[in-house]
Amino acid sequence: MPSASAAPAAISAGITSSNRPQLSPQQFEIFAKIVYDISGMKFDANKSYFLASKLDTRVQALGLKGFDDYYTYLTSPSGRPEYGYLIDEVSINETFFYRHEPQLQAFRDEILMPLVHARRAQKQSRLRIWSAASSTGDELYTLALMLKDLGLVGKDLMWELVGTDICHDALEKARAGVYRKYNIRNVPPALLQQYFTHDPSSQSGEIWSLKPEIKSICKFQEGNLMDASRCGALGKFDIVFCRNVLIYFDEASKEKAVQNLANNVHEDGFVLLGHSENIYSQRHILRPDKSHTNSIAYQKAPPGTPKL
Ligand SMILES: C[S@@+](CC[C@H](N)C(=O)[O-])C[C@H]1O[C@@H](n2cnc3c(N)ncnc32)[C@H](O)[C@@H]1O
Repeated sequence: MPSASAAPAAISAGITSSNRPQLSPQQFEIFAKIVYDISGMKFDANKSYFLASKLDTRVQALGLKGFDDYYTYLTSPSGRPEYGYLIDEVSINETFFYRHEPQLQAFRDEILMPLVHARRAQKQSRLRIWSAASSTGDELYTLALMLKDLGLVGKDLMWELVGTDICHDALEKARAGVYRKYNIRNVPPALLQQYFTHDPSSQSGEIWSLKPEIKSICKFQEGNLMDASRCGALGKFDIVFCRNVLIYFDEASKEKAVQNLANNVHEDGFVLLGHSENIYSQRHILRPDKSHTNSIAYQKAPPGTPKL
């Protein structure tokens, strides 16, 4: 947790006459630093309105007068749990099932199946997959559906699928496994039919619930990509998905996160990122393997690879 040593004499009411919540530059700096120190998410000054509106939601929920009071509460001993609510509020949880088909094809045909064959040849029955910023679970459940579809569950292999996220709210939704039509729009119809229940009377027929046979393969827990020891406690994985979260980090946070991902992947395992994510500066930690047709996958760089 950041210290409150930089106590903001400059923090003031923070609401403009137009009633649109607005942070002064000093307020923005202080709150953006709090969020950064906890999560690695870097808000630039052009995101001041976004941060102000998120903070204002907390100010209203707590019945406080403004950002001054919120800061005082947040940094008081009784305000400790509020850090969690703050991070929940500023987290961007956008996700959906089968989000990037080309990468999923490469995952299935060129990464997963060769690893399955390798583990069988090594007489190892356990395979572990980590969704390292799992949000509401759509990504991890997509992988579970793919494993089911491939007939890989309930046979000789033991699967452990773990989703972690910093956002408690998202984790609760992941555990519930209940989705709107928007989130499941790319699920192949046969899998939708087989592994979801649909209540047509619910909110204009929008709600779809995953069946226990899929939910039971996946577990979700709190995890902060900035926290080396808690990431390490998850143990090693064969395949790690870490999609669409590094985009919110600066180089320093990215370096920490990429190191934590690399620490948790087996030597012959793979890390898959979002297709617009670039870890060129971290290639001494994870090196790109461009041999896959539809997606770059990353593997651990050999020990001692110099940082360029
Ligand atoms: C845009 S979602 C991506 C979800 C999913 N991986 C996908 O690509 O569909 C980004 C997620 O990263 C999470 N996040 C942000 N900072 C994090 C951190 N330091 N550690 C773990 N998760 C974090 C957010 O809470 C959010 O759920």
